[in-house]
This record gives sequence, C-alpha cells and structure tokens, in this order.
Amino acid sequence: MRIDILTLFPEMFNSVFSESIIGRALKNNIFTVNCINIRDFSEDKHKRVDDYPYGGGPGMVLKPEPVFKAIQNVRKENSRIIFLTPKGKVYNQKIAKELSKEEHLVLLCGHYEGIDNRIIENYVTDEISIGDYVLTGGEISAMVLIDSVVRLLPGALGKKESYMEESHYNGLLEYPQYTRPREFNGHKVPDVLLSGNHKEIEKWRIYQSLKYTYLRRPDLLEKKELTKEEEEILSK
Ligand code: ADE
Repeated sequence: MRIDILTLFPEMFNSVFSESIIGRALKNNIFTVNCINIRDFSEDKHKRVDDYPYGGGPGMVLKPEPVFKAIQNVRKENSRIIFLTPKGKVYNQKIAKELSKEEHLVLLCGHYEGIDNRIIENYVTDEISIGDYVLTGGEISAMVLIDSVVRLLPGALGKKESYMEESHYNGLLEYPQYTRPREFNGHKVPDVLLSGNHKEIEKWRIYQSLKYTYLRRPDLLEKKELTKEEEEILSK
C-alpha cells in the first residue's frame, strides 16, 4: 500500500512513522508513505494557500488551486482520495478493513474554516470523520486512519490472533485480559483462567465480550448477528 498525505503541517507526522508497529511496518516495506506540503504547490509569491470566504463570515478557506495541484501530483487511476472532516462518514473498523485492501490512499488534511468545496465535489472520493467532535485540522484524524489501516496489512502485526480477537473485530468488545501475578494488591485473576480448561475459558471469554458490549455499547449488539455459540452462551 502507498499512502500520500497532503497537509500544511508535514512535520506533525514525523514520530508516527518512526515508532512502534507503524514504524516497523514502514521499515519492512509493508507500506510506503509520503508527506506532501500543500504550500509547495502555491504559485502565490508569498506562498499563500488560504483566502477569505465568498459570502463573508469568519475564518479563512483553503484555496482550490494548490490543493488541486497537490492531488494531481500524486493521484493514480485507482486512488482513494480521502478528505478528513467532521462532516464526513463516521469512521469505524469496517471502513478500516475496506481501506486496508486498497493500493493507494491519498489523505487530504483540511485546516482553517475549510477547503474550497469544488475540491470536495470534484476530486475527493471519500469524506471521513473520526468522531463527533471538532479538531483543529485533519492531521490527527489522518494519523488515526493510518494507524488503524496499516495494522491490518498482512505482516504488520506479529500474530494473526492479535487482531482476530480484539474489540470490534467480530462486532463485540474484547473480553478482559490478565497476566501474572495471580494476585495483585489482593485482587485475584478470575479462577477460570487458571483452570487450564480451554473450553471453559473460551466460553467465559465469549460471555465477557457479550456482557461488556451489552453494558457499554448496546448499539453494537443491535447491529450484530450473533453466532450459534454466542446465542447458546447468552441463553444460559
Ligand atoms: N478535522 C477536524 N475535525 C475532524 C474530525 N472529527 N474528523 C476528521 N477530520 C477532522
């Protein structure tokens, strides 16, 4: 996968690509990434990229020409051109999975009051929001998207199981995890996990996943079709 980021603040991405799992995936050529400064495409002698909004109102708007040129510079036939915006479709694991199958993502990060809407109407393929709150720009949202997509690429994570059983993989929240010691500040690990009975452990985990999801995210349960095993555990 290739990722191009169009931004006014490319330095913001430095640590994202040098650390941890994403840094390792980059080193291992699981994906390639390129940060492009939209300002480099301004033909204004002062390198201006914003202007006052037509119709008046507060704030500034990103001008269409430098953004268009930046897009043209990286765009291929099969590119997904994603604009990060609080007006977009709310991001989730299903979208992450879908995007992880693409060859080329172009992430367009907005700033100021917005971006000239002709760019969105004519050149953007997807508008994505990372949640119902407003950030100062699209960069942090782009980082969230990259992190969640790259970790799904083949070879990015050590063991397949680490994303097979996690929260949201199967539409439920993940069961709780414990490690040594058996007793910590007087708090014990649930007995079943020490029993060595793998069938009982599996049942307990499914039950915990269902319980957490029911208590914290009933909206997820409504959307989910329960497996036979999950139905059985619930009915007891
Ligand atoms: N830019 C500002 N707020 C945003 C959000 N919630 N999602 C995506 N991009 C944004």
